[in-house]
Amino acid sequence: MRLLNDLYTIYGDLLVEKNTEITPAVIKKIRKMGEAHKQARVPLKNTELFADFDKVFYDPKYANILKPPAVKKQVCDIAGALAIENDLIFELSTMKQNLPYTYHHVLIVAALTIRLSLAYKPGKFDKDTITHCGFTHDIGKTRIPISILNKPGKLTSEERMIMETHPVMGYLLLNYYLKKDRVICSIAGLDHHERLDGSGYPKGIKKIDKYSQLISVVDVLDALMTKRPYRGKSFSLRASLDYLLFESDRKRFDRDIVVTLICLARKEKTDPRHIKISREFREELPEEMTHEKYV
Ligand SMILES: [Fe+2]
Ligand SMILES: [Fe+2]
Repeated sequence: MRLLNDLYTIYGDLLVEKNTEITPAVIKKIRKMGEAHKQARVPLKNTELFADFDKVFYDPKYANILKPPAVKKQVCDIAGALAIENDLIFELSTMKQNLPYTYHHVLIVAALTIRLSLAYKPGKFDKDTITHCGFTHDIGKTRIPISILNKPGKLTSEERMIMETHPVMGYLLLNYYLKKDRVICSIAGLDHHERLDGSGYPKGIKKIDKYSQLISVVDVLDALMTKRPYRGKSFSLRASLDYLLFESDRKRFDRDIVVTLICLARKEKTDPRHIKISREFREELPEEMTHEKYV
């Protein structure tokens, strides 16, 4: 793994020079730099981020999954209990100003991932960790030029290469900002575009941590359901879930995770073990969904 541009902290300090090969020694050095700069964690509940988080529950696209009041309370209680690094609050408020779409996306991903973690293997996910992963998985996007992030139309191969460095940059930033107890969150920043068949990026690995797997499924769901500069329309919940199912058939996502999400999206809640999924009358998948890599 290699960066194509210099990477700076939110305070303007150079963290990694471009073209540096990211080795364990580089990570060690970044952690050391971070230790010299460690800041306090603040209760998420007292931040503007949490006030914005509350609003995503009124997004009609996810009403079935998020709107029932008991669900909203459960998810907000979990998110509100997180103590988050001050530096990351600063990073996310900068994201809000410069990349409002990405900011909204991370709030949605955080809410949906917490919800999914409660339904998929309840009790197996640490609540703080899954919440943190949702909010911070795309922190590396803040270091991608806005002209690339907002480009209408297809990215060139060079632009795509730059875009695909965002997980590595996120990983490096999180290694700098986080203490050792949150190492899984930096891994989710790195691995949320990996796929179980090895077709993802940046490393093309097949063994993916369970936190990253949850994030990756929800991440694609929201990417499909949201208008993007390069795509005229967004997809319905049904078409997006179909796509995830199709990807799980191709062994890219864990099928149980996708099926759990489908159950949550249904008005009549079903036990994932007993769900019947119709393969008929599906909306036709837009052609680009079969080969486009979603970022
Ligand atoms: Fe991402
Ligand atoms: Fe994302």
